[in-house]
Amino acid sequence: MSALSIRSPAKVNLFLEINRRRDDGFHDIQSVFQTIPLYDILEFTPAAEFSLQTETPGIPTDDSNLIIKAAKLLAKKAGIREAGTFRLQKNIPACGGLGGGSSNAAAALTLLNRHWQLGMSRQELAVIAAEIGSDVPFFIYGGTCLCEGRGEIITPLPEAQYLPLRVISPTWGVSTPQAFSRLNPTDFNLQKVADFIACLIKSPIDVLELYSKSFNHFEKSVFEYLPQQRELQQILTDNGMLTRLSGSGSAVWILNPSPDILESILPAGCKIIL
Ligand code: C5P
Repeated sequence: MSALSIRSPAKVNLFLEINRRRDDGFHDIQSVFQTIPLYDILEFTPAAEFSLQTETPGIPTDDSNLIIKAAKLLAKKAGIREAGTFRLQKNIPACGGLGGGSSNAAAALTLLNRHWQLGMSRQELAVIAAEIGSDVPFFIYGGTCLCEGRGEIITPLPEAQYLPLRVISPTWGVSTPQAFSRLNPTDFNLQKVADFIACLIKSPIDVLELYSKSFNHFEKSVFEYLPQQRELQQILTDNGMLTRLSGSGSAVWILNPSPDILESILPAGCKIIL
């Protein structure tokens, strides 16, 4: 039987504030997530057992992979006894704050919802997605969304895809749990997402004003323990570029790229991935 295929996009966080540390160990956030046209490809072929194949080294292919977790959870919830083999073509770098693993899980849910003809709505799939990880529900929607709670409370916003974003992937990565554990609670809840959204939905968009209201709470602490992250973003800033960390890093987006100079100023190994 021929394989079913779905694109699994990366995201960047255009705005990310952390409001408080919760009793369950998670943090309440307010973040504007944006999918970007950088995709992993996920294929599925029905088979007797669930399995995952990929040619990318370092990707777990056992039950710890969010694709397998998502598929098994959906099958259980829907009372489906079928299974299959996933093939993953990986283009989204890991540990970059680009949501690759979460996106893959959401892609698996979306693909299987169609293949098994479950007829679940986005809201229903997002509830299951939230059991897999905080960022997975966003990828059920995609586009531009305000994500609150631990990330699972989704409000779709007008599409901001026309922003001329470029994305840089450094040679180093950041572990998200570690980045959360290094935050200083006295800094929480300083920036208001409403001001950023007001700029984002304005037409025509004022890029400088939008950037002035954009924010990523992780930058302060990540810059402290990863000096090379600060240096990369300083180089971009010194060359007139409006740049921010995505998620907990290490990838950064640039709002006003100068393609002619971008490549020449990047530290060795840093890649322009969008
Ligand atoms: O939900 P997910 O499994 O992706 O989260 C990974 C880790 O990131 C959590 O165990 C937690 O340490 C941290 N996290 C958090 N607050 C969030 C999302 C994630 O503290 N809103």
